[in-house]
Amino acid sequence: MSTPVTERRLTVRDIRKGRGPFVCLTAYTTPVARLLDPHTDVLLVGDSLGMVLYGLDSTVPVTMDMMVAHGAAVMRGSKHACVIVDMPFGSYQESPALAFRHAARILAETGCAAVKLEGGIEMAETIRFLTDRGIPVCGHIGLMPQAVNASGYRVQGRTAEEAARVTKDASAVAAAGAFGVVIESTYRSLADAITQSIPIPTIGIGASPACDGQVLVVDDMVGLFTDFTPRFVKRYAELGATLSQAAEAYARDVRARKFPGPEHCFGDPPKEPPARS
Ligand code: KIV
Repeated sequence: MSTPVTERRLTVRDIRKGRGPFVCLTAYTTPVARLLDPHTDVLLVGDSLGMVLYGLDSTVPVTMDMMVAHGAAVMRGSKHACVIVDMPFGSYQESPALAFRHAARILAETGCAAVKLEGGIEMAETIRFLTDRGIPVCGHIGLMPQAVNASGYRVQGRTAEEAARVTKDASAVAAAGAFGVVIESTYRSLADAITQSIPIPTIGIGASPACDGQVLVVDDMVGLFTDFTPRFVKRYAELGATLSQAAEAYARDVRARKFPGPEHCFGDPPKEPPARS
């Protein structure tokens, strides 16, 4: 089933009841959200912004204030896509009550539809707590970037035991009331089996074409973030190279005094009428 065409903004219910394929990209700013919105079903304000916008080494130092500011910016730039905002590291792991306070702030101050948080079985109680209290939650299992200090960035499901754990995580997140789940960096067969077995849509990143949706970090997809390109990224544009060429051409023109040209200058001020005596 393809995404319903609607005049209104897509809701978590549209995502929950559909089976995609849902088109999802990250977005962090108003102008980029405006460009992506007509083509996407979901805009994810991912905490990947820590790395792609702020030059941080991981998503761990990302703050609530960053997520709220960028979530509100993406809402201002979109009117069609369902906007989901990531809960940053440390804002939800400690207790369901703390998670509620932070998720409520994200919803209230950005106007987004839902939050996303990382974790499986260990986060099920928190997901249930939030969803029972009116906060739609998208899960995130498989590779969990916020756990980089404990687990690194490696493909998940290498052993039977690891695959069983990811499968149980998926079931736990679904049973706890999440309306969808991101599956990151797992073997394809594992993502296929999970997509078949759980009653909520799966959104894959480095997972499987059989997932109910696909997500990519937009800066990876357009070649703006090139520090590291995971195997699962397909480059649809080379905006980084284009930007660098544009800066080079501008620098050449400025140094040669070719910019600004007459068409970019305001010339002389209009003649003032003679003062009346
Ligand atoms: O932070 C993010 O951009 C994400 C996606 C990679 C799914 O969580």
